[in-house]
Amino acid sequence: MAAIRNIVILTGAGISAESGIDTFRGAGGLWENHRVEDVATPEAFKRDPDLVLRFYDMRRAAIQTREPNAAHHALARLDREWRGNLLIVTQNVDDLHERGGAERVLHMHGEHLNAWCTACDARPRWTGPLIDRPPCPVCGAPALRPDIVWFGEMPYRMEEIYDALRAADLFVSIGTSGAVYPAAGFVRNARDLDAATLELNLERSQGSSWFDESRLGPATELVPAWVDELLS
Ligand code: OAD
Repeated sequence: MAAIRNIVILTGAGISAESGIDTFRGAGGLWENHRVEDVATPEAFKRDPDLVLRFYDMRRAAIQTREPNAAHHALARLDREWRGNLLIVTQNVDDLHERGGAERVLHMHGEHLNAWCTACDARPRWTGPLIDRPPCPVCGAPALRPDIVWFGEMPYRMEEIYDALRAADLFVSIGTSGAVYPAAGFVRNARDLDAATLELNLERSQGSSWFDESRLGPATELVPAWVDELLS
C-alpha cells in the first residue's frame, strides 16, 4: 500500500442500493419495470417523449428523498484525507457522493439534477419535473431533456477518465455489474498499465476475473473497512 499515490474509483448503482435507490439489473431493478429501449435511448425520446420525461421525473424526485449511506461517507472521507490524486468516476446519476461530502467526483453518465437544453446547450441545475416542457432558464426554449447519457450516446469526460487511469496505481470498482461499456473496460486499462485492481461488490461482476482481488459483501460494510485500511 505504501507505493500507492494515484487512485481511480469507479462506482455503480450498487453503492446507492442501501440508500434505497434500485440498481439497474437487480431484482426489482429499473429495467424490469421499464424496458431500457423504452426509456434510455434518443430514439425512445423521439418516439414517446412523455414516457421518457415522466420516467426521469419520477427518478429525479425519488433521489431527492434518499440519503447517502456509509459507503458514500467513507469515500468522502478518503477524498478529504488522501493526499495523492484521487478521482471518483461514477456511473450513477444521483448526487449521493456529493451529499456525502465527496468533491473529486466525475459523473460519466450525467446527472438527474441537471437538465440539458437541446436548443442552446445550457446545462442548468434542475430539481423539478420536465414533463410540462418548462422554458430553458438561459434561452427560453421549451427544449430541456434529462442530462443523462442514453444508450448510443457518448459518456462524458472520457479523456479525463483515461488520463486518470493512465496515472493510476490503484483502480477500485464498487457496486457495478460490469455490464456496460466503456466503464466495464476500465479495469483492463488500469491493469495493462500495472495498476493494482480491487473489486468491492455484493457478488462477482461480469469482469471479476480481471481484478487482482474481489471482496464480496454490501458496500456499507466493505467500503468503510477498505478506506480504514488504506488510510491507516
Ligand atoms: P447494475 O444494476 O448493472 O449493477 C449493480 C451491481 O451492484 C451488481 O453487480 C450488484 O451485485 C451490486 N450491488 C447491489 N447491491 C449492492 C450493495 N448493497 N453493495 C455492493 N454492491 C451491490 O448497475 P451499474 O453497474 O451501475 O447507464 O449499471 C451500469 C449502467 O447501466 C448504469 O450507469 C446505467 C445502466 O444502463 C446509463 O444510464 C447510461
